[in-house]
Amino acid sequence: MKVRLDDIEVYFEDRGKGEPLLFLHGFPFDHQMWSSQLGALAGKCRVIAPDLRGFGDSSRPEGVYTMTRFADDLRKLLDQLEIKKVTMIGLSMGGYIALAFAERCQGRLKRLVLSNTRSAADAESARKNRYHAVERIKEEGVGFLIRDMPEKVLCPLTLKSRPELVEVVRHAIERQPSVGIIGALQGMAQRKDRTSLLKEITVPTLVIAGREDSLIPVDEAEQMIRELPRGHLEVIAAAGHLANLEQPRIYNELLTGFLRSG
Ligand code: MLT
Repeated sequence: MKVRLDDIEVYFEDRGKGEPLLFLHGFPFDHQMWSSQLGALAGKCRVIAPDLRGFGDSSRPEGVYTMTRFADDLRKLLDQLEIKKVTMIGLSMGGYIALAFAERCQGRLKRLVLSNTRSAADAESARKNRYHAVERIKEEGVGFLIRDMPEKVLCPLTLKSRPELVEVVRHAIERQPSVGIIGALQGMAQRKDRTSLLKEITVPTLVIAGREDSLIPVDEAEQMIRELPRGHLEVIAAAGHLANLEQPRIYNELLTGFLRSG
């Protein structure tokens, strides 16, 4: 379904009844990356998964999508749905956004899941790469992302043994509009370091890492855990950056266990 939030329309899935869970997808994907989690949890909870601005079937305005702007969209979505408190589950860019949300609206969080993500800002080299990618997209389109990203976001075992999942990832990137990809790249490049916020996050926080995540290695998750007062770390074996897609059963069990733990 779709809802209008000031300047944009946001598409979101909203299934099941009970405790609300809000799933924030990574870059450059949309809500469909959560399909296995939505299927597994919709019988127990209310699962909500938006296409963030610029992605999937949501509006794609021109401009820089800062993490704060994404977080504001989510606050407005929760207001419209009359949800006071939510468990937020953010993967990678979704995690950057979840931290931006926590910075402003921690009172709206019941729990937090930070998956395959980091609290730090981009290193200078990463920032440069993002602006370089923006220029490339403007010149030649997103073909290079569709070609190159699967190797970055999936671990070697997945790449070798699950060609169908490699195709799912390619198609997911193909669906995304270049204006959205550019807006998010610029927004991620500009995001600030939120490491100092971690010690102020008082809600239970599950940190999930992929043992073979080459984009955000496990030691970044370990660093976050040292700061989070109520953090708990789970590292998933045989998983890269898209741990929820590569190891859905284990990922779903971790979510279910975390929800059960209070
Ligand atoms: C993501 O999966 O959201 C991206 O890898 C995040 C990033 O580029 O930093």
